[in-house]
Amino acid sequence: MNTIERLYRDGVMEMHSYTPIEPPDQIAKRLGLPEEKIIKLDANENPYGVADEVLEELGKAKYLSIYPDPAQKAVRSKIADYVGCKPENIVAGAGADELIDLLCRLTLNPGDKVLTFTPTFSYYKHVVELNGGIFVDVERQADYSIQAAELSRIDLTGIKVVLLCSPNNPPGNMLEEDVLNYFLAQDLLVVVDEAYYEFAQQTFAEKINSHNNLIVLRTFSKCFGLAGLRVGYGIMCETLQEAIMKIKPPYSVNMAAEVALSTCIDHQEVFQKQVETMIATRKATIEKLQEIDELEVYPSHSNFILCRLKTKNALAIRNKLEQKGILIRYFNTPQLQNHLRISVGREDQMEIFMKEFKDLLTQ
Ligand SMILES: Cc1ncc(COP(=O)(O)O)c(C=O)c1O
Repeated sequence: MNTIERLYRDGVMEMHSYTPIEPPDQIAKRLGLPEEKIIKLDANENPYGVADEVLEELGKAKYLSIYPDPAQKAVRSKIADYVGCKPENIVAGAGADELIDLLCRLTLNPGDKVLTFTPTFSYYKHVVELNGGIFVDVERQADYSIQAAELSRIDLTGIKVVLLCSPNNPPGNMLEEDVLNYFLAQDLLVVVDEAYYEFAQQTFAEKINSHNNLIVLRTFSKCFGLAGLRVGYGIMCETLQEAIMKIKPPYSVNMAAEVALSTCIDHQEVFQKQVETMIATRKATIEKLQEIDELEVYPSHSNFILCRLKTKNALAIRNKLEQKGILIRYFNTPQLQNHLRISVGREDQMEIFMKEFKDLLTQ
């Protein structure tokens, strides 16, 4: 008898799969802990949760029973005000993830290549390969920077897209402007993923006015606390915007997300305060981590901190923290051997984390 697998696209089942994040209620159940005991420092979400202002507006939302506007008129205009550009420069999607997928769908013929510099956000590889592209990864320097002077050695034959991330996840460093300028001068689509823009307060978005091959991606998942509602956006020239508007699914930004993002933009001061606190907490946490000899701690412009364990087993430490309900991210790729990434949580959460982490590292 024929199997269903025979109908799948070539290569799909051989694809590298994306490691998903486990929801807190399921983690709590698995660990036998009450849900409120879970300290989630593994996905760079907003530790203050969804803002009260957003919850209130969601409670009053009138149009959840009708389809959202496929032209995204109100959404694009609101986001454009926040960014300081025209609505014709914006496309919104179900998270920055959806926009990365749409860019691949727009540009890639089977076998076209996409360049990136690793380590970086692991979803890129998944989405490029799912769209029939070939993922070309060039290793970053030991400090995770990209050297502009070395770029001319990279063979750009067959490369259509370059994916850059600023601040980069997981190292937390910024994209160097001369690196971006090098790629903008090539015949390539250049994507700058600024998912963590609000924590870095630096952007390359204004370059869309002089470069029609640039798209800057942002999200409401991080600073604005809407990861569960799935909404992100791209900033780009009008020509590129028209093309993405044409291919996007009509209703991927749902009505609840529309209400929520608009409320976030109307109450920016709430998030500005949270960001200020998180930046101070990041600084204090880095200083405390640097006091521990066992750790090599990297500087961060984002809401997470990467560190390398010099002698202890990072996976064992991560697992012991998990038993206590504290979740952090473990990496063990060739360039991130024995590394841990800790999202910046609330001050009370970081206090608990630091105590437990320090105890485990100095035992
Ligand atoms: C660099 C980067 N880009 C994009 C995303 C995904 O954003 P969204 O939730 O908007 O799909 C993440 C999420 O962790 C990320 O780290």
